Amino acid sequence: MSKQQETLRIGIAGLGTVGGEVARLIETEDAHLHMRAGKKLVVTAVAARDRTKKRAAALKNVAWVDKPVDLANRNDVDVVVELIGGHEGAARDLAEATLKKRKPLVTANKALLAHYGQALAGLSEAYDAPLYCEAAVAGGIPVIKTLREALAGNTMLEVYGILNGTCNYILSTMRQSGRTFADVLGEAQKLGYAEADPTFDIDGMDAGHKLVILSALAYGAPVNLPGLKADGIRAISANDILFADELGYRIKLLGIARMTPQGLMQRVAPYMVPQNSALAHVDGVMNAIYMQGSAVGPLTLIGRGAGAGPTASAVLSDIIDCARGRQASALAVSSQHVKAVNMLPDEMSESAFYVRLMVMDKPGVLAELAAILRDARISIQSLLQKGRAEAGPVAVVFITHDTNEKAMADALLGLAKMQTVLEPPCLIRILPD
Ligand SMILES: NC(=O)c1ccc[n+]([C@@H]2O[C@H](COP(=O)([O-])OP(=O)(O)OC[C@H]3O[C@@H](n4cnc5c(N)ncnc54)[C@H](OP(=O)(O)O)[C@@H]3O)[C@@H](O)[C@H]2O)c1
Repeated sequence: MSKQQETLRIGIAGLGTVGGEVARLIETEDAHLHMRAGKKLVVTAVAARDRTKKRAAALKNVAWVDKPVDLANRNDVDVVVELIGGHEGAARDLAEATLKKRKPLVTANKALLAHYGQALAGLSEAYDAPLYCEAAVAGGIPVIKTLREALAGNTMLEVYGILNGTCNYILSTMRQSGRTFADVLGEAQKLGYAEADPTFDIDGMDAGHKLVILSALAYGAPVNLPGLKADGIRAISANDILFADELGYRIKLLGIARMTPQGLMQRVAPYMVPQNSALAHVDGVMNAIYMQGSAVGPLTLIGRGAGAGPTASAVLSDIIDCARGRQASALAVSSQHVKAVNMLPDEMSESAFYVRLMVMDKPGVLAELAAILRDARISIQSLLQKGRAEAGPVAVVFITHDTNEKAMADALLGLAKMQTVLEPPCLIRILPD
């Protein structure tokens, strides 16, 4: 073996939370990684914005490039690891340039893959340059390889999970402490579990990016971000958490990709998860993914979905695959086999629903509510009214039998117009047992 074949020379773009830890582990775990990769792993060049910033790794004898895209062109870089983030600009330029240079690309960038995954998988094939992305979904949980490789013999029936640690931390802390959404969000920001601008997490887009990648892997379908429906957790109140407990559920933000005879349903939304299911007990910043395959049956993976260590663990597994020459179609199937999949029209999507209304405590309110639901052809499975308020609002909660999204949306419009309804209704779908 020549000197060059004994070493894998790595260029890393981005030395933040993930990139810094990947570089540090390559330095400190060198003997173990050598054994696993069959080659010595060496970081030869890096890029970041600020060369003076203190980094997790020592980075001795490592070249710095001015622009991340320069890493693709260097003769001393065999594989490029993109850990910048964002779906445009430096990350996208680098990803495209690397594949066009016929070099392997490792990325943890879910936003890039959610927007341009299909195009990048196409470049990977056209230029015969592998694209590795284990860290892009659920950090340390090896879900990409599980769907793409371990479960390749199955027709996937359903994939869903807790894909955003920030939301899971907020919802489980609200349940454990009885505090409000705003209060717990503030604490999550102080602890570094939520960004200063938490919109992307709490409105469901981060989970959405991960879901569309999982959905493509599970069903051999194109990555379809425009076909995603996403709701976040802003409307969940401390009351909803209490009602969920009483009714036998836990509220979780789930990403669900389910294949139905009428098309693919891709939705991120808060769900009532039955307390007897494994996902109901996945708390804090942990992630979990449930998969149902035709041959394997049900399978659940639970673990840390973010953070320096778990994400670096996934990136290193990709670098080792690259060193070993292990290569799979980036998104599970080659472009000639990607099949166009119809999206399930919303009016055909069915579930049971939990609805909470804050109403004036007056006679006749329940009769009016029942009439609106009757007109929308929705039947109620159970109804709860809590306490009596002297002058203020009281919570009325009902659970429907299975009904479709269109009927529910029509009923919500009617309910929101009731003079006695004081706040926009809160709707949460119910995950079947
Ligand atoms: N953090 C996690 O837990 C996690 C989990 C799963 C996936 N990911 C993904 O991993 C990727 C990296 O995330 P991160 O949390 O490590 O981000 P981060 O801490 O913000 O680090 C980003 C790095 O990119 C560098 N950078 C940004 N723009 C640049 C530019 N135009 N040119 C050169 N360098 C640039 C920054 O340089 P400076 O340091 O000089 O500012 C920084 O080193 C993202 O795609 C993210 O979605 C992260």
